[in-house]
Amino acid sequence: MAAAAAATSAGASRIWTTAEWAALKTHAEAIGSTHLRDLLDDEDRSIAMFAEHTGIVLDYSRQRVTVETMGKLHDLARAAGLESKIAAMFSGKHLNVTEDRAVAHAALRAPKGTTFTVDGKDVVPDVNAVLDRVEAFSDAVRSGKRTGVTGKPLTDVVSIGIGGSYLGPEFVFEALRHEGDAASAAEGRRLRFLANVDPVDVARALEGLDPETTLVVVVSKTFTTAETMLNARTLRDWLIRSLGPSSSTAKSEKEVVAAHVIAVSAAVDKCRAFGIEDDAIFGFWDWVGGRYSVCSSVGVVPLALQYSFPIVRQFLDGAHDMDNHFRTTPLERNLPVLLGLLGVWNSSFLGHGSRAILPYSQALLRFAAHIQQVDMESNGKRVTVDGDVLPFEAGEINFGEPGTNGQHSFYQLIHQGRVVPCDFIGMCESQSPVYMKGEVVANHDELMSNFFAQPDALARGKTEAELEEAGVPAELRPHKVFPGNRPSSSLLLPRLNAFTCGQLLSLYEHRTAVQGFVWNVPSFDQWGVELGKVLASHVRATLSDCRKGAESAGGRVDMSTVDSAGFVP
Ligand code: F6P
Repeated sequence: MAAAAAATSAGASRIWTTAEWAALKTHAEAIGSTHLRDLLDDEDRSIAMFAEHTGIVLDYSRQRVTVETMGKLHDLARAAGLESKIAAMFSGKHLNVTEDRAVAHAALRAPKGTTFTVDGKDVVPDVNAVLDRVEAFSDAVRSGKRTGVTGKPLTDVVSIGIGGSYLGPEFVFEALRHEGDAASAAEGRRLRFLANVDPVDVARALEGLDPETTLVVVVSKTFTTAETMLNARTLRDWLIRSLGPSSSTAKSEKEVVAAHVIAVSAAVDKCRAFGIEDDAIFGFWDWVGGRYSVCSSVGVVPLALQYSFPIVRQFLDGAHDMDNHFRTTPLERNLPVLLGLLGVWNSSFLGHGSRAILPYSQALLRFAAHIQQVDMESNGKRVTVDGDVLPFEAGEINFGEPGTNGQHSFYQLIHQGRVVPCDFIGMCESQSPVYMKGEVVANHDELMSNFFAQPDALARGKTEAELEEAGVPAELRPHKVFPGNRPSSSLLLPRLNAFTCGQLLSLYEHRTAVQGFVWNVPSFDQWGVELGKVLASHVRATLSDCRKGAESAGGRVDMSTVDSAGFVP
């Protein structure tokens, strides 16, 4: 763990022991006696709580902070060595200390001609060499030059993967489905995702697909993930049954797999052992964490097949733009830093353990799910990078749904139940505007009216006195009081397209890094998912024995007798 010491030498290892942490603790008590209703009346304060980058505006005036709070949070960031940790990340230092790896996902979107050094080597040429291959491959498939085994064009793609090998690509796929250029480029093509090992997910993914025109992409960094490998074998079997030796095409299994199955993985040997040809394997590197891999072949391959490579390049360029902003902008105006520090403030000092991600954009319907993994797998930790047990809970429970749908679901709790800090995300312009003659407001205006109204309702609330003045009967007033003082940030983007989608991804990836850097937790490993995997493999072995026994006895396995330790009583 020498690397751990080196990584933390730039800042306090136990941040909670610093004077800056103590100062914020005291300050939080003072903030406790303020109300956002009053804070928002201070115009100078509100004006100071805006930050902007390339037309993306962050308004954090509805957070429970003053100018003094922000100063103290920046002091804390400096005590944590935030600036040098950001620099260390971009210079390829091994910040993933427990796996002794660099954290270099920003290199995945670095354009040709720039440099990003990992372990003494500039990795940008390698990254771009893979991207060039993806471009050539996706062009060949999309143009019909590369066909299925019977010569038909491969119009449909099933991307098999789970966790980081699924959530990010699906978020981007959905985000661009109705975006002008991307939608035109996708005409006549279908992209499906298969993640869950539940056989129902297989049925859903294959619904209406023809094996002759389907390309299967097996996406797995390790190429060992149980769910993905079982789904990969299931789909290989589906292809071989329809197109293989005993079908009317009479093609060999090897020919079918070569034409219809490709792989994205950092474990090239395992892909070969699965029967996938070298020219159909797209690699990436161990310095890319699974949940940070959407800009690697993991996302780039399925997205380029669907939307074309130029669209994907715009997405990478957007992410790169936000990387540069994060790397070079002073803390006070740095969007990921501001969001990250507000997360630290809300959770460690105001005691809010969850946060809602609320895009007022149906195209971002899978964004919260992706960020849930990025953030909760990264910062849901119990020790520092040096192994000291934290005296507080790091990480937040992230959840969310697009507005306005969420308003008719869980917002009740956010307004009058628990305090849940919210991120409202909106777009100035819609991807697909609708205007109906005779309607008072256009659909997008209606959506954005809610985007602007909700943060105010949460912040200001409604008092008993206001209700009385409005003539609300006394017995109903307690039910209609909104306490307010509920924090939120609003993020306004010009329009959701491939470029801004990349910016948004990078913004949230780095927000998580900022929080982890301040708390000094090992944000880039995920040991917490291991125990469940090990127990499942015990159960699997037992279940398989039971199935064999039951089959030979002509019966069925009784699942209710299997316990989680893998023993059948
Ligand atoms: O669930 C844990 C995890 O390791 C994630 O971090 C990762 O994104 C996912 O599994 C999938 O892993 P792989 O890409 O190796 O199949």
